[in-house]
Amino acid sequence: MKNKIVAGNWKMNKLQKEAKKLIKTLIPLVKDTTNTVVICVPYTDLATAVKLCKDTNIHVGAQNCHWKESGAFTGEIAPSMLKEIGVEYVVIGHSERRTYFGETDATVLQRTQAALAAGLKPIVCIGETLEERNSGNMENVLKRQIVEGFKDITADQLANIVVAYEPVWAIGTGVTATDQQANDAIGFCRSVFEEKYGKEAADNLYIQYGGSMNEKNAEALLNMPHIDGGLIGGASLVAEKFAAVVNAHK
Ligand code: 13P
Repeated sequence: MKNKIVAGNWKMNKLQKEAKKLIKTLIPLVKDTTNTVVICVPYTDLATAVKLCKDTNIHVGAQNCHWKESGAFTGEIAPSMLKEIGVEYVVIGHSERRTYFGETDATVLQRTQAALAAGLKPIVCIGETLEERNSGNMENVLKRQIVEGFKDITADQLANIVVAYEPVWAIGTGVTATDQQANDAIGFCRSVFEEKYGKEAADNLYIQYGGSMNEKNAEALLNMPHIDGGLIGGASLVAEKFAAVVNAHK
């Protein structure tokens, strides 16, 4: 049986003082879980988070990284810069990056490759919009995101990647996919990975659900066979709520 990977995506929230308070409250609340706990924090909170989480079971992640090692890329951050300060995970291709910052399947692939090369674990996000789902295109969109976004990724590399299925219509809306919808979509994604990488690799791959997941719906979602964890936005900003999601699955 796989454990679950529960990651908080703080997005653009928490000044240092608030971050410290949240992490200090969180540490004792999640210390006994057998699940993997990750917090993906803004760049300015990374060093603080790494320091506070040292010798705890909480792993620290960033929310993006560039594909080049260095150079004239104002406002970007290199994977090696994250690695150097002790960051372990990095969210890549979040729908907010795709929607507001021109992220494409091709740039997702480049960023993922660079993150892996630096020894980071990418959490690669995919998911359909409401229009895509309602027009019967959900599977086409997910398949395209996987085929294009993982084009040059080898089976060995896949073992170091976490995938997050986040239907865009469920993010920050309070509308969660039902357990069955989330499980079906993730099961479909797994079948696409299986076509390329084989059954064992696909079964071993961690695929999280994200989108209005919280302390109330986490247990049911995490009990679904295809759902290997969660990527939590709003509920990860409150230590007690995030801890309840982490502890929802024993
Ligand atoms: P919410 O949990 O706020 O819906 O956000 C989900 C998300 O985008 C996590 O990456």
